[in-house]
Amino acid sequence: MSVTASLSASHHVELTPDFDLSAHNTLGLEARARFGATITNANEAAPLLEEARRLDLPLRVLGGGSNVVLRPFYDGVVARMSIKGRAVVSQTPSETVVEFGAGEDWHEAVCWTVAQGLPGLENLAGIPGTMGAAPVQNIGAYGCELVDRFVSLVAFDTSEQAMVTFDRAACNFSYRQSVFKGTPGRFIVVSVKLSLPREWRPNLAYPGLNQLPEDVDAATILDTVVAVRQSKLPDWRRTGNAGSFFHNPIVSADVANQLTASHINMPRYPQADGRAKLSAAWLIEQSGFKGYRLGGAGVSERHALVLVNNGGATQAEIAELAERITSAVRDRFGVSLVQEPELI
Ligand code: EPU
Repeated sequence: MSVTASLSASHHVELTPDFDLSAHNTLGLEARARFGATITNANEAAPLLEEARRLDLPLRVLGGGSNVVLRPFYDGVVARMSIKGRAVVSQTPSETVVEFGAGEDWHEAVCWTVAQGLPGLENLAGIPGTMGAAPVQNIGAYGCELVDRFVSLVAFDTSEQAMVTFDRAACNFSYRQSVFKGTPGRFIVVSVKLSLPREWRPNLAYPGLNQLPEDVDAATILDTVVAVRQSKLPDWRRTGNAGSFFHNPIVSADVANQLTASHINMPRYPQADGRAKLSAAWLIEQSGFKGYRLGGAGVSERHALVLVNNGGATQAEIAELAERITSAVRDRFGVSLVQEPELI
């Protein structure tokens, strides 16, 4: 992989004016940018930034566009991350370290590792988006989070104009959070290293996987996760969506106890620090929003945590719907929901 190659090499980056982003966000919102570009090599990050600065425009990089809400017009440069590459970089008795270009499709990367006989990512199968976006929100599903497999990443720091390496501690990961989420647009992730355990054990604790036998192989878990996701979540290729639209709120034990006293069926998941994670989907459904529609925007009839584009939804409708949900949940339960996808 050439991702950490010298920046001195001169690389030309083509800018396309009036760039249509409609096909590049999974919510399927109509959106355009003043300029569009594609990054296929880490060495293009510096000249791209230089070009954006010469034009006095901001620069944002999009991966799969699966965790964003796009405004109708972005007055800047939007670059699509397309750096490819996957390789085993080291092996010890306990782990295999694999490096990926940031533009690799996440699900395809998971399938590739399992096909190579390198299990460990199968619970994260089927998540839309790219490798480079995965650390930004520390993606998680079915009892596994990216942080569990993360080694390091290389990113171009647009403030310092230099490539930097982040190890796990430097990323400051927590539930759907990282240092990158707190500094939107500053770092352009170009490659990611993940560690896959040589002594692998299936992780079957999450509902939907706990009926599998203990000696199940990773490929079967992968297929099961994909099937469970397909049965529960709308497919963005048919009905535009950005996955979970809100974080599951984490509240103090006292707040959780008070809520459980009046809502005995409320799901709650104890956290290591004594707090409790609540189900945003449950709070939203109880507030009467499952299947609710507002213009072209709506709440999925299949999963209350997923906002969908039923056809022709606008960013304003999505924002209004998110606001109505947030206020209703706050009024009824006193819990504040935090939006997961970033508004760009
Ligand atoms: N529920 C409802 N109504 C619904 C759907 C779910 O009340 O319409 C309740 C059920 O009681 C269910 C509970 O919510 O037991 C939890 O639902 P689910 O297992 O589907 O998980 P989630 O907490 O809603 C999280 C992630 C998903 C991930 C799943 C599976 C967040 C914000 N979301 O959802 O991630 O796929 O767990 O691990 O943490 C994403 O981030 O885009 C995403 C889809």
